[in-house]
Amino acid sequence: MADTITPLELFHAINAGHVSEILDVRNIDEFEASRVEAHRPVTTRNVPVYRVFEDLGTEAGRTCDDAVVICGQGNGSQLVAEEFEDLGRRARSLEGGTDAWNRLLVPVEVTGLPGPVRVWQFLRPAKACLSYVVGVPGQHCIVVDPTRQPQPYLDLAAEHEMSVTHVVDTHVHADHVSGGPQLAADLGVEYHLPPEDAGGLVPFPNRPLKDGDVLDLGEAQVRVLSMHLPGHTPGTIALLVSDSVLLVGDTVFVRGLGRPDLTGQADELARDLFRSVHERLRPLPAQTLIAPAHWSTAEEVNADGLVVTTLADVFTATLLNERAMERFVEEIVTSLPAAPDSYDTIRRVNSGQLTPPEDEIEILDVGRNQCAASTSLA
Ligand SMILES: [Fe+2]
Repeated sequence: MADTITPLELFHAINAGHVSEILDVRNIDEFEASRVEAHRPVTTRNVPVYRVFEDLGTEAGRTCDDAVVICGQGNGSQLVAEEFEDLGRRARSLEGGTDAWNRLLVPVEVTGLPGPVRVWQFLRPAKACLSYVVGVPGQHCIVVDPTRQPQPYLDLAAEHEMSVTHVVDTHVHADHVSGGPQLAADLGVEYHLPPEDAGGLVPFPNRPLKDGDVLDLGEAQVRVLSMHLPGHTPGTIALLVSDSVLLVGDTVFVRGLGRPDLTGQADELARDLFRSVHERLRPLPAQTLIAPAHWSTAEEVNADGLVVTTLADVFTATLLNERAMERFVEEIVTSLPAAPDSYDTIRRVNSGQLTPPEDEIEILDVGRNQCAASTSLA
């Protein structure tokens, strides 16, 4: 029986440089749609499983010892790893395959906050998406931008004896299917989504947060302040925690800006983005920690495994330093990459306008995000 490796073990093993090679035995289109990547480059080969079995000896000879074999659900990769083992080659199979990898969430605490509020960032490596739990141990917490895999948030809340009181989506996401409405319904708590992103109405219970609203986490003076930051979408809200960490959605990233074109109003929203950046973000203290909803490259991950930066560092980005609005708008609009075809469908799902069957949702929710307009720095 060949060894297996869990998605979390694989994530840490790649980052530690302990994976010599990934052999992905899915079909080429599946491989191209969602590669298994973490924060450190690793040699990856795609050889569909039928090709591996056509010439097992050659493929085993080509594969490094300590390679990890990957397929969709973990069955084909297990067979390949066992055959390789019979041929004297040690390979491990990814448990649950890319289906399980797609669900992986890795919590990392954002440390150094003043006061009793704690913030945990959840990395979803399959999509390079970030979600958050913000709470006071022994009291309340909120979940921000949750994926459709709520158990890790609930486990963390239970570990710190926190009850979830609010679920927030900073905006209507276009790159991944939100777990927000379902999680709020399951827990019987309030859900918050900007209705401007959904044409003004959503068909599920929703209490929109307005600029300046506070979400109380259980102790006096412990508050989460919401802030309207139009640009990536018309209704994006950010959450300022303890005056020190800004959960900023897709407005800005560690490197770059959120693309303003996903709702079909690129020019107008690029102007809003300019105003949000210069009128709302710039006046905040330079050391405010910026905690975004995505990352694009491993360079955005710091030594603690967190995707955060300071506001001062964000303003080193070329476009953020561009003070003239017209040039800013022209540069950002003309540099936009094409949006994936699925994005409009995902937006309609997340705003409740479309309810596809579960298997179609699974397919929609595959592949890394493409939410950044720019990653270039000065
Ligand atoms: Fe987004």
